[in-house]
Amino acid sequence: MYAAKHRGHASQQQQQHVDEAMLGGVHGHRPTAARPAPRRAKLKILLVVIATNLVSVYLFSGASLSVHLPASAPRIHLWDSAALLRDLNATRAELAGARAELAALRSQCNASSSLLESVLAGLGAVHGDAPETRDFGGWPEEPAGELKLAIEPHRLPLGFHPNFGTDELFPGLGFACRNFQDELARYMAYDAGGECPDDDALALQLALKGCEPLPRRRCRARSPVGYVEPAPLPRSLWSVPPDTTVRWAPYTCKNYTCLVRRARARGGVPSFCKDCFDLEGKERRRWQADNGGVGFGIDSVLRSRAPGTVRIGLDIGGGTGTFAARMAERNVTVVTTTMDLDAPFSAFVASRGLVPLQLTLMQRLPFADGVLDIVHSMNALSNWVPDAVLEAALFDIYRVLRPGGVFWLDHFFCLGPQLNATYVPIFDRVGFRRLRWKAGRKLDLSAERNEWYVSALLEKPMT
Ligand SMILES: *[C@@H]1O[C@H](CO)[C@@H](O)[C@H](O)[C@H]1NC(C)=O
Ligand SMILES: *[C@@H]1O[C@H](CO)[C@@H](O)[C@H](O)[C@H]1NC(C)=O
Ligand SMILES: *[C@@H]1O[C@H](CO)[C@@H](O)[C@H](O)[C@H]1NC(C)=O
Ligand SMILES: *[C@@H]1O[C@H](CO)[C@@H](O)[C@H](O)[C@H]1NC(C)=O
Ligand SMILES: *[C@@H]1O[C@H](CO)[C@@H](O)[C@H](O)[C@H]1NC(C)=O
Repeated sequence: MYAAKHRGHASQQQQQHVDEAMLGGVHGHRPTAARPAPRRAKLKILLVVIATNLVSVYLFSGASLSVHLPASAPRIHLWDSAALLRDLNATRAELAGARAELAALRSQCNASSSLLESVLAGLGAVHGDAPETRDFGGWPEEPAGELKLAIEPHRLPLGFHPNFGTDELFPGLGFACRNFQDELARYMAYDAGGECPDDDALALQLALKGCEPLPRRRCRARSPVGYVEPAPLPRSLWSVPPDTTVRWAPYTCKNYTCLVRRARARGGVPSFCKDCFDLEGKERRRWQADNGGVGFGIDSVLRSRAPGTVRIGLDIGGGTGTFAARMAERNVTVVTTTMDLDAPFSAFVASRGLVPLQLTLMQRLPFADGVLDIVHSMNALSNWVPDAVLEAALFDIYRVLRPGGVFWLDHFFCLGPQLNATYVPIFDRVGFRRLRWKAGRKLDLSAERNEWYVSALLEKPMT
């Protein structure tokens, strides 16, 4: 279990990323630049303008301008006030009519002149004149080079349109990438067809900030020097891989020996998922049995379902993959999401013969609705996650679970007052049915801080 203080450390940083990423995660992709309307449409508009103007000219020429003054100027019948009133009345009515007609004409002129303006602007764009304000589809600067290629839509061959509902394919790309164009441009400044730069740290930074997924690149990812093939299953499940199976560029620890030593050191440098690299230590004892508190055992959880019906699942924020390893021993296939924060988690999970998935909490889970038997998450979901993000993540977990599937929320961390005020209402809103629920005060030096853990087994209802 990652100590909360450690988590807090890593999380503050992440929270900021998460906030930023949230702004964009759910939006689709827009075209990279406003594309000019087809020429035919332009022509049509032009004709409309000309026609409108012809009407104006016709009207102004007086042909039907009906500001008819009385045939003769009103005679002044000083002695006949009734006649005078009648004349004045008639004149007033005529003037009112004329004024209305003028207003109508003016607005028609207005309309045709603004149409003319837009047609001229359109024609200017066709001829390559720079419009006054440029729209790069939300990018601060006009994307160029490999970045432009990676983000622009690509036309489908004729005949595919009915299947896709579009005649162009847009690349999958994190909406928030637009907020970090400088960094993204650096990431995309590579030698096309050559070897990719050594920039894992930059890629990770961008993904954590919400530029996820990143654009694809046309370069060959580097291999570690002295790669060693993995151990065979099932031995690989509990083997720390050789140091040379991975590229270590951005990490403090430059080998697994260092990571294992760090896990065993008392105190030491706070780090993310510190214990998980020591497969002989705490990691080996996790989920072996119910501990009477918030620690549930895997077998007791599996017993809550009909035998053999838990077959496939997901572990969110699964560190080095030990949950998936324990499930593999029970013939359950579990995919582990993990981010390479501070250590090469994905490579480690993969070397154990388990499936790593690089995914932040901001991403919609890449599964169809109603397919998984179990979703587990320990420590990844906690009070560092902004409420709206947490709620969206829980609804997404509900979505991917099959009816009767279970969500095992393991060691959700929060402060005492937050539990009933904030989190229980969120859990209830999602619509899970509680099979097990255990809240317990965190027992360590920080106990006076009223910190709590909740573990729960939540079922997606059958109907
Ligand atoms: C003037 O016109 C109004 C309506 O426009 C009418 O009600 C009124 O009787 C008229 N007055 C005279 C003196 O014709
Ligand atoms: C003409 O258009 C402008 C801007 O579109 C508007 O502010 C103005 O009120 C319009 N005038 C008339 C008479 O419609
Ligand atoms: C492992 O990495 C640490 C630093 O991260 C270094 O001091 C140590 O020499 C390395 N050990 C081996 C065997 O490479
Ligand atoms: C897992 O599957 C294998 C092969 O089908 C079987 O021999 C083994 O008993 C199963 N293990 C468990 C724990 O069910
Ligand atoms: C939350 O509410 C439940 C039931 O209302 C209560 O038993 C529990 O003590 C509360 N928990 C905390 C941490 O306040």
